[in-house]
Amino acid sequence: MSWSSPSSSPGDPHYTLPNEWGFADERLALLGAAYDSGSIALAQRLGVKAGSRCLEAGAGGGSFARWLCSVALPGGRVLAVDADPRHLADLPGLGGEVAQLDLVTGDIPERAFDFVHTRFVLLHIADRDIVVERLVRALVPGGVLVLEEGDGLGVLDEMPGAFGEVWRAFAHSTEIAGASQSWARSLPAQLDALGLVDVHAEAEIPMFRGGSPMARMWSLTWVQTHDTLVSLGIPPEVIAAAQAELEDQQQWLYAPPIVRAWAHRAGTTDL
Ligand SMILES: C[S@@+](CC[C@H](N)C(=O)[O-])C[C@H]1O[C@@H](n2cnc3c(N)ncnc32)[C@H](O)[C@@H]1O
Repeated sequence: MSWSSPSSSPGDPHYTLPNEWGFADERLALLGAAYDSGSIALAQRLGVKAGSRCLEAGAGGGSFARWLCSVALPGGRVLAVDADPRHLADLPGLGGEVAQLDLVTGDIPERAFDFVHTRFVLLHIADRDIVVERLVRALVPGGVLVLEEGDGLGVLDEMPGAFGEVWRAFAHSTEIAGASQSWARSLPAQLDALGLVDVHAEAEIPMFRGGSPMARMWSLTWVQTHDTLVSLGIPPEVIAAAQAELEDQQQWLYAPPIVRAWAHRAGTTDL
């Protein structure tokens, strides 16, 4: 499909799903409900435990940072950073630290963490490659970097129905704002090139039922980006049809893949 001109200027880098939106806390909680189990399973496999020093970069609603607090503290450290940390206010009460910080320019502690994690953050940042290098520098020798980022991997093109049509327009709108929906596939090669060791990667295509947390998360995403989608030429009826698909418990849908890439900084740690 060819796209209409959006109302924002092309190339203008701004995050398309700002945390100040009225339902952002609910949307971020649903994101956590949909993806935390995968993130937690990987972190457990990689040995996050009591005493681990952890950096959650782009912590959003904070559900994964809360889990890190429950495991690593006391004795360890959990620093949750976000450009807009408004949904992280409870973390200090759990023993965690919160910092408002732009990952591109902010002061990220170096050689400080056993475990550094992002999820659905870097793809949105135009200077994402710089951030990967900065996150590598945040690791202690032997520490592990885990990057979980979305990548269409061709799945988007095949996605059927109104949900697929809206998803493709949404992906396009994020790319206009500086995101990349085809970058995460380069992560394992990038981690190799940065000299990390034990580099691994996998991609998963989540399948979900209408009415599930994942479905509600996407439905809220279309609410948040409704005007942008319309400005790109998606009729409101198509957005409504996509939301009806997402509410229909008889429907099974699939989301674009999540790429997980992880690797260690050379050296040793007792993580
Ligand atoms: C889609 S949310 C993901 C939140 C969380 N990682 C999760 O998966 O539940 C992306 C988060 O990245 C943050 N973010 C975007 N650009 C950022 C930047 N340049 N520096 C720091 N945080 C950023 C946003 O504020 C938002 O909280």
